[in-house]
Amino acid sequence: MPRLPVVVLISGGGTNLQAIIDAAQKDLPVEIKAVISNKPGAYGLERARKADIAVATLDHRQFPDRESFDQALAELIDSYQPRLVLLAGFMRILTPGFVRRYHGRMLNIHPSLLPDFQGLHTHQRALEAEVEEHGASIHFVTEELDGGPVILQARVPVLSGDDAQTLAARVLEKEHIIYPLAVRWFAQGRLSLNDRDQVVLDGKIRSTPVQLEQVAID
Ligand code: GAR
Repeated sequence: MPRLPVVVLISGGGTNLQAIIDAAQKDLPVEIKAVISNKPGAYGLERARKADIAVATLDHRQFPDRESFDQALAELIDSYQPRLVLLAGFMRILTPGFVRRYHGRMLNIHPSLLPDFQGLHTHQRALEAEVEEHGASIHFVTEELDGGPVILQARVPVLSGDDAQTLAARVLEKEHIIYPLAVRWFAQGRLSLNDRDQVVLDGKIRSTPVQLEQVAID
């Protein structure tokens, strides 16, 4: 199978990036054309370099406004001609024009069971809300922040004695499973977004996200 060209955007440590690199070195049919960070020195860039992947830094502080940053970012991304753009811990709010440009071909991972806990500090907020279950979601990126159609989720229990760190670690383990899995579906041509912004998987419109527990992983 031809490998799908992808570009990954990061801002930090890049453990989700690492999960995708590792999967691509096994049998995930993608070629990571470049890893782009808005934060100079993000450790994820080091991970990419170790895997011989091109890296670039575009420091948002060097731009006068969101529009000019997003314009430069789009030009940089497009120079690699990706068919899929992955946000993997990319901590920037994107302008509507940027989001529209990659409509149906940009995914994000968010550390909560969307639509719950959009935005930041999701683990702390889940603890404060005393939910019994928490988790992570993969979604198509649309103009609504953390509001795009959810493809796949993984759930974890919230345990007594959890703090934000222990809960985050339990969620992160699942993130490393669900992101490569959703990318695999997209690369295999099984996953798309239709013109009504609905998730289509294996020819069927999904009115609810797939749950990891429902998926057989070989
Ligand atoms: C992950 O937990 C990801 O879900 C989250 O940032 C972390 C990045 O970790 N993303 C967001 O909060 C997006 N709003 P990583 O750099 O180790 O992959």
